[in-house]
Amino acid sequence: MKVTVFGIGYVGLVQAAVLSGVGHNVVCVDVNADRVEKLKQGIIPIYEPGLENLVKANVEAGRLQFTTDAALGVNHGQIQFIAVGTPPDEDGSADLKYVLEVARTVARNMAAPKIIINKSTVPVGTADKVKAAVAEVLAERGEAIEFDVVSNPEFLKEGAAVADCQRPDRIIIGTDSEKVEARMRELYAPFNRNHERIIVMDVRSAELTKYAANCMLATKISFMNEMANLAERLGADIEKVRQGIGSDPRIGYSFIYPGCGYGGSCFPKDVQALVRTAENNGYVPEILRSVEAVNHRQKTKLFAFLNDYFEGQLAGKKIALWGLSFKPNTDDMRDASSRVLMESLWQAGASVQAFDPEAMNETQRIYGSRDDLMLMGTKEAALRGADALVVCTEWNIFKAPDFELIKESLQCPVVIDGRNQYEPELVESYGLAYYGIGRGRSVKLPQV
Ligand code: UDX
Repeated sequence: MKVTVFGIGYVGLVQAAVLSGVGHNVVCVDVNADRVEKLKQGIIPIYEPGLENLVKANVEAGRLQFTTDAALGVNHGQIQFIAVGTPPDEDGSADLKYVLEVARTVARNMAAPKIIINKSTVPVGTADKVKAAVAEVLAERGEAIEFDVVSNPEFLKEGAAVADCQRPDRIIIGTDSEKVEARMRELYAPFNRNHERIIVMDVRSAELTKYAANCMLATKISFMNEMANLAERLGADIEKVRQGIGSDPRIGYSFIYPGCGYGGSCFPKDVQALVRTAENNGYVPEILRSVEAVNHRQKTKLFAFLNDYFEGQLAGKKIALWGLSFKPNTDDMRDASSRVLMESLWQAGASVQAFDPEAMNETQRIYGSRDDLMLMGTKEAALRGADALVVCTEWNIFKAPDFELIKESLQCPVVIDGRNQYEPELVESYGLAYYGIGRGRSVKLPQV
């Protein structure tokens, strides 16, 4: 099938590459000429396992093209994906200006019927707004061309985006039209083998499904972080508690890992957006507000540990930081816990000596060159002469470190483990002090 994808960010690029990989003919349109040019040469703007090879192979096979020419894109596919960004505006609501601009672009250029698919995470009611925007432009043009608007949210995880897209848990299709459903089934047939993954529902339910899924996961994390903070005060070990409750299949083991807070492009933004949607519809979302508040507080925890350990004397201290990205296998720094820590340390007059396998360029891009940020070539180099070690992201290469070397390299023998990667007793057996999240080691957290 011929498919057009507007927006070659994370979602659009992965979706386009995967669709072309099963034989669809995909044209990607973006306003960023530099990004388009680089992609034509096989240069991928993000780090995502498997993506580069997939893009290159499909570009070579002629099934995947990149262009800034919107008219070309609109005329290419009956199916038009909207996968542009929905950044939060000042009050945390999702800003729809890019989505609606694409809708108008499609309407201005279309000469035949189109199925317009919202792939971006958009608030409930957006499909209606897209519909109205397209209808308005068509009316201005004096044309009555048939079109449908479908909600088809993505559920991909960064770091596993290609695999998630190739083997989705579910494919949500929000439409009231049987004709459109049939076309969508044809589009996704290669991903719907062996067992049924397609769930068809009305548009508004599909739009809410996306938010409900992310907010549920964020809730699980904030709940566990709250339990961890409680465990700390009660002298219990949250890792034992996690195993104890995860064994109940109604609770399950996934997404109950306590840590230094969730980040990334989805959870913080989507929880905030659903809070705003609820408030704008006359409902007070008590749980969602707390999920957000607990997460904000959790991100201040690593600094609180350090401040506690050094008794408020952080000025002039050099802190080794392992892991900068919001989670492993990505270079994404959006809402990463490391940023809250670094910014608090700088404010307290401390400096940071950091290593991350992928996110150092991104860190440099965000913070520029500054005297209190040293980006080091290896995890060992980040330790040298530092006062303490903090682990912010659970990259594999941090999982079995040389504790002897850590002890020798640090001025003060302390490891602060923001992702509960190490057993406290093991670390302590090397003569190091250990702080994990909810593992019986105390910290004076700011009261809320
Ligand atoms: C998430 C959803 O998982 C995905 O389905 C949706 O489409 C987009 O948002 P992503 O943001 O890529 O994906 O990352 P994810 O792996 O879900 O992790 C999000 C954050 O939660 C990370 O900061 C991670 O460290 C944190 N997390 C996750 C925990 O703190 N504890 C957990 O148990 C799980």
